[in-house]
Amino acid sequence: MKKEKIAKIEEKIRSVFDQQYQIIKMLGNGGMGCVFHVQSTGIEMTDFALKVLDKEAYIENKLDFMREADVMKGLNHPGIPKIIAVTEDQDYVYMVQEYIRGESLSLVIRRCGQLREEYLKIWMESMAETLDYLHQQGLIHRDIKPDNMMLTDTCEIKIIDFGLARQQEKVDQADKKVFGTLSFTAPERFTKKVGTVQTDIYGFGVTMYYVTTGKKPENMKSTPLQSYAIMEQKLSESAPLEITEILTKAIAVKPQQRYRSFNELRGDLSHKNRIADPYYEVRQVQFINMFLILATLFLIGLISAY
Ligand SMILES: Nc1ncnc2c1ncn2[C@@H]1O[C@H](COP(=O)(O)OP(=O)(O)OP(=O)(O)O)[C@@H](O)[C@H]1O
Ligand SMILES: [Mg+2]
Repeated sequence: MKKEKIAKIEEKIRSVFDQQYQIIKMLGNGGMGCVFHVQSTGIEMTDFALKVLDKEAYIENKLDFMREADVMKGLNHPGIPKIIAVTEDQDYVYMVQEYIRGESLSLVIRRCGQLREEYLKIWMESMAETLDYLHQQGLIHRDIKPDNMMLTDTCEIKIIDFGLARQQEKVDQADKKVFGTLSFTAPERFTKKVGTVQTDIYGFGVTMYYVTTGKKPENMKSTPLQSYAIMEQKLSESAPLEITEILTKAIAVKPQQRYRSFNELRGDLSHKNRIADPYYEVRQVQFINMFLILATLFLIGLISAY
């Protein structure tokens, strides 16, 4: 977006919100709008993220400019920023959101490279739990990638940018076009186009692939099977077996070979975490022994009572 246009938007923010917010800085600037860090000018000086959508760009792409706000208004989850206010004028939609103090996963990886295993499991569980919630609301995100994951100062993961989110059953214009970064796009989006629950599962898989290996995912457009084999190899070189197994299933080329749901993926994640725990089996035997002793004592007590 050009400088003059940004200056115009900043001017609009001041007038639309009647000087209610002070602009601190611009956080993002894409083709369809921009995001600012703002602070309320009252005594409390609370921070917010203000996303401004350019209606004209949405209309050009045959997309609904109110959809992101509509989707977010219906969500209530700690892994998703809350919507505080939505307003519009002739040119723009203004969405005031809870401000996430932190940075995107893509920035973190670019700075630090691949991340430690203990973070990996916590983040996978947290991200999968938030996406499971979203899917249970009958929605899909359709743009899961490291740019749209925020790592907070308190080391939590939050999912942002619901600009392409939609009801699971309502196919729309955005399904006919591939938006965003090719390397994070699911293979079926290049052929059948239509996104599904499995498209988000793929997005989760490649995002975690990036976090695990520190390497950009392979492009799935021309030779998906070859790209898949490369990613499988790289994962097995840098991730523990249980993580490799989950992620290779999440990024399978055919959607029907991936997990059916995040619920199923989370089941595997907690199961494999337990198996990976070196003391799990020892504790399991201890538990069975204790159970048998208690049951025997109970039976002896019962028999002697009669
Ligand atoms: N609620 C939020 N709290 C803090 N920062 C945010 C929030 N929402 C968005 N951002 C910042 O703004 C950037 C862009 O936001 P978002 O992904 O929603 O917009 P976008 O339409 O994809 O724009 P872009 O093309 O610039 O990525 C994010 O990468 C993040 O740094
Ligand atoms: Mg984004």
